[in-house]
Amino acid sequence: MSIAFFDSGIGGLSVLREALALMPNENYIYLGDSDNAPYGTKTKEEVRALTFSAVDFLVKQNIKALVVACNTITSAAVRDLRGMYDFPIVGMEPAVKPAVARSADIGKRVLVLATPLTLKEEKFHSLVSRFDADHIVDMQPAPKLVEFAEKFIFEGPAVEAYINEIMPADIDRYGTVVLGCTHFPLFRKTLAHLLPEGIDIIDGNKGTVNYLYELLKKAHLLSTSEEKGNITFYRSGVQVQDPELIDKYQKLIRG
Ligand code: DGL
Repeated sequence: MSIAFFDSGIGGLSVLREALALMPNENYIYLGDSDNAPYGTKTKEEVRALTFSAVDFLVKQNIKALVVACNTITSAAVRDLRGMYDFPIVGMEPAVKPAVARSADIGKRVLVLATPLTLKEEKFHSLVSRFDADHIVDMQPAPKLVEFAEKFIFEGPAVEAYINEIMPADIDRYGTVVLGCTHFPLFRKTLAHLLPEGIDIIDGNKGTVNYLYELLKKAHLLSTSEEKGNITFYRSGVQVQDPELIDKYQKLIRG
């Protein structure tokens, strides 16, 4: 049985990377709905409809757990998914709590980068209100980064111009930038190069995968195989056979 990863596109590969580091002997199915990406600029209803049909497809592939490797889908649909299936389902959440803890200590602010839909959703606002007592968290939608990523463009003048355009003018007041979309860690190098030195750039990928591990362990679902597992890639319901595309995915997983 496999662990399924689902994202609107290739962003979830940044989460799969952490899962492979922690649980190399599992088999994985990765489904990126790149034909329909981006999700973050769609309505909640559109994202939910795409999600329910994608997960319906995944459950037919003999899976033992699902990682919703996308903050947008998590905020729009994870609660309903948990009600529909009885295998473990893990979602993503912007790493607001650790960011506030780090930045508050040094008197700096937190900037959360995410998709427009994630930032609009109630789930995000209740997360911020739980941890942001001093109102140090600001948010910035960055939907074009998803579009660049889906074209496998992670650096260069167009990406840099967009990042510079959306960053606040007073970026020196910030201590932490939270990557609240799984596509964004794919731009980590470019972001680190453009942001002032000393700003922490954090994501929730490791935390999510650690949580997945704990759930699998508790449910006695961890693989007992001593051999490295395999990854099967699907793009919008169709198994990816093109060696060049598989190679591109593998490169992103290696980081
Ligand atoms: N990867 C997704 C996330 O974590 C969303 C990207 C999209 O807009 O499709 O939010």
